[in-house]
Amino acid sequence: MASVSVQRGSKTLLDSIDWQVAEGERWVILGPNGAGKTTLLQIAGARVHPTTGVAGILEEVMGAVDVFELRPRIGLASASLTSQIPSHESVLNVIVTAAYGVTGRWREKYDQMDESRARQLAAGWGVAGLINRPFGSLSEGERKRVQIARALMTDPELLLLDEPAAGLDLGGREDLLQRLGTLAKDEEAPAMVLVTHHLEEVPAGFTHAMLLREGAIVAAGPLDDVLTSRNLTETFSLPLHIHKDNGRFTATAAVETASADVRDTPGPSGR
Ligand SMILES: Nc1ncnc2c1ncn2[C@@H]1O[C@H](COP(=O)(O)OP(=O)(O)OP(=O)(O)O)[C@@H](O)[C@H]1O
Ligand SMILES: [Mg+2]
Repeated sequence: MASVSVQRGSKTLLDSIDWQVAEGERWVILGPNGAGKTTLLQIAGARVHPTTGVAGILEEVMGAVDVFELRPRIGLASASLTSQIPSHESVLNVIVTAAYGVTGRWREKYDQMDESRARQLAAGWGVAGLINRPFGSLSEGERKRVQIARALMTDPELLLLDEPAAGLDLGGREDLLQRLGTLAKDEEAPAMVLVTHHLEEVPAGFTHAMLLREGAIVAAGPLDDVLTSRNLTETFSLPLHIHKDNGRFTATAAVETASADVRDTPGPSGR
């Protein structure tokens, strides 16, 4: 996308974003609440039009293409999409209806191939045993995996995940990260963009990162160039220290500032 801005009333949600995702790249987007991450994903998913600028998605230009033809080529999993899924809908239906870009099963006829693909995806994401359960009865972790299976149903060329690990317990998060890491390393897998609040949630195999702040890009590019203490500090307006261990990142507040306000007895500081 080139010079993409999104304006709502007097508020600028995105400010002149230039960004390209190439085939095979796996991007993570980080930034504070309200930075515009979800809005950016909505544009990449052909759900929202830019107010100004050009959004080119999979060789098509938004505004000049039928979005209903474009959307099945993009897999999207997000909280707003989940909230549209009727809670009585079976897991199988939740996955299979993605083939038709709808969330509730009505009168569409699904052929055998769709159904077997849905079952295959359910197995791949560890929810095969839940295939007949109502979506509303699943745990948060199970829902997340069903959503990703759904997002992959159309064999998309681009996979967009908005906070896929939000609300998961430690085991659930690690399980999901492992699955996403496996997908990231699969050369056949679509280009991926994952939004998260936590550096710990950057799956292994991810290649690029974007840091967003107040609708603008602080840094974007190869993962190791972008995820630095300095860039993170600027993005979150808080002195942060980044650690990388075994391919996984963590961030903590830089020691002096983190403890300055709460320390009542002087103790050893610094690590
Ligand atoms: N229709 C709208 N009118 C005015 N402001 C809006 C509208 N839609 C979104 N916003 C604002 O735009 C900003 C960016 O929202 P967005 O959902 O993209 O942020 P985000 O980075 O995904 O945040 P979070 O981390 O909390 O999910 C927010 O401040 C939000 O309140
Ligand atoms: Mg968001």
